[in-house]
Amino acid sequence: SETYPELKRDSRYSQLRQEHVAYFKGVLGSESAIIDGVTNDNAADDIEPFNADWMRKYRGHCKLVLKPGSTAEVSSILSYCNKHGLAVVPQGGNTGLVGGSVPVFDEIVINMSRMSQIIEFDQVSGTLVAEAGCILEVADQFLASKGYIFPLDLGAKGSCQIGGNLSTNAGGLRLLRYGSLHGTVLGIEAVLPDGTVVDDLGKLRKNNTGYDLKQLFIGAEGTLGIITKVSIQCPQRPKAQNVAFFGIESYEKAQQAFREAKGHLSEILSAFELMDGGSQELVRSVTKNKKPLEGDYPFYCLVETSGSNAEHDSEKLSAFLEDVMEKGIVADGTLAENETQIKALWAWREGITESLGHLGGTYKYDVSIPLAEMYQLVEDTRARVDAAGLLGETDEHPVRAVVGYGHMGDSNLHLNISTRRFDKRVEQCLEPFVYEWIQERQGSISAEHGLGLQKKKYIHYSRSETMVQLMRSVKSSFDPVSGHQLSLLHRYPYTSCAEV
Ligand code: FAD
Ligand code: MLT
Ligand code: ZN
Repeated sequence: SETYPELKRDSRYSQLRQEHVAYFKGVLGSESAIIDGVTNDNAADDIEPFNADWMRKYRGHCKLVLKPGSTAEVSSILSYCNKHGLAVVPQGGNTGLVGGSVPVFDEIVINMSRMSQIIEFDQVSGTLVAEAGCILEVADQFLASKGYIFPLDLGAKGSCQIGGNLSTNAGGLRLLRYGSLHGTVLGIEAVLPDGTVVDDLGKLRKNNTGYDLKQLFIGAEGTLGIITKVSIQCPQRPKAQNVAFFGIESYEKAQQAFREAKGHLSEILSAFELMDGGSQELVRSVTKNKKPLEGDYPFYCLVETSGSNAEHDSEKLSAFLEDVMEKGIVADGTLAENETQIKALWAWREGITESLGHLGGTYKYDVSIPLAEMYQLVEDTRARVDAAGLLGETDEHPVRAVVGYGHMGDSNLHLNISTRRFDKRVEQCLEPFVYEWIQERQGSISAEHGLGLQKKKYIHYSRSETMVQLMRSVKSSFDPVSGHQLSLLHRYPYTSCAEV
């Protein structure tokens, strides 16, 4: 492969043939449920978007995209692939940021977009049951009409699917308030690699009968099976939301502001996000929007409250802002006064990923580090890139900026290195440096995006050999026969050349 010269396709897996395609056509029935580049050379352009990831960093060479419309169809497809040694990759909204949602070589893409129905909603308990291909924003808008909210929100909400969210155990902007999907998901229906349907689509909050196996699918990145349906506990939609945005002179003071926010805002605090000056400058350069504050600061924080009484919440937020400004913790701040201003302030945070995407290649590291040292990683990385002579705006010095932002309330940093284009010299400067740095501080090399192709080989920086072995045995219980692409730890269909 030109795309991954260091990887080699595992030849034990079959090549797609005409008779395989004929079988899938029979299962799926509808023409629109299949994009067939095996028997039709003209399908290449239609297949391209399914081969490339959101960042344009990873690219496979799949020739067949299947879009099942029911659990039974997913089951028939997987069972057939299993018998015939055909590799597959499950795909949701393809917004993943670690190269897990696209093929490595010629795996069949099983795209879940046709399974997008909301199945039922209980007005009293707030339990939503939906198909896995339902887009997050569609689910949330449905819930809004019922007075409820989806307990997860993130910048890719208009494209990502709830099945993809569960598979990556996405964290997002309000984990601080609503907790992780491990707590809110009540049930899952999934199809195992051999086609067996696992029906654990419960709606109970409490169920201590043996192991809670559905948890294994949350964050499994499609390695144990394909999630087809989801049941999730949704909270009441807050009647009032308020947002403050402020400028801060040091990372030390940002930590103090977080401490104060918890003290002042307690139960209504719903997000506490950090953005450094560099990330905000990138957003400004792309959007050309006027910055929310007059001055320039090395750090900015966005604080959101969600409660039931707008006046009471806004009084609390104003008092908090006044207090932290008086104490000299915050240098300047502004409060949104209406829905439009709330959206505009959030855009300075949510828009970072997209702005970076407009500027060329981005090396992204999504990490958990104890708060006290969190931002030091950005500074040390910047110094390293600079010392390697890579900082600049030319082909020779391709790194435009080293920036940091993230979910400060969850000790989750997004370290991003923005380059003119993806460049192996930059990657070699960053890896394994970043992972070693994190390991020394007992952090996690993946806080919320998963391992995917990017981090699969670095798993041991955050997990011991014993834990990796346990993961292998879980994997082989769910997928005893094939070890095909639905595998994280032996992600088919490649082995690294070093292993061969
Ligand atoms: P995909 O990208 O299609 O797939 C992701 C992984 O899940 C792949 O390994 C795929 O094989 C597997 N998969 C997908 N669907 C299924 C299924 N039904 N069954 C089994 N496996 C499946 N992530 C965060 O955690 N927090 C954020 O704040 C956040 N913000 C983002 C903002 C932007 C602008 C972008 C582009 C991405 C962001 N992400 C964030 C990353 C991404 O959106 C999430 O990881 C999201 O949960 C992926 O959902 P998806 O449907 O796009 O899945
Ligand atoms: C975010 O918090 O903005 C997302 O996780 C995406 C990113 O890391 O850029
Ligand atoms: Zn994030």
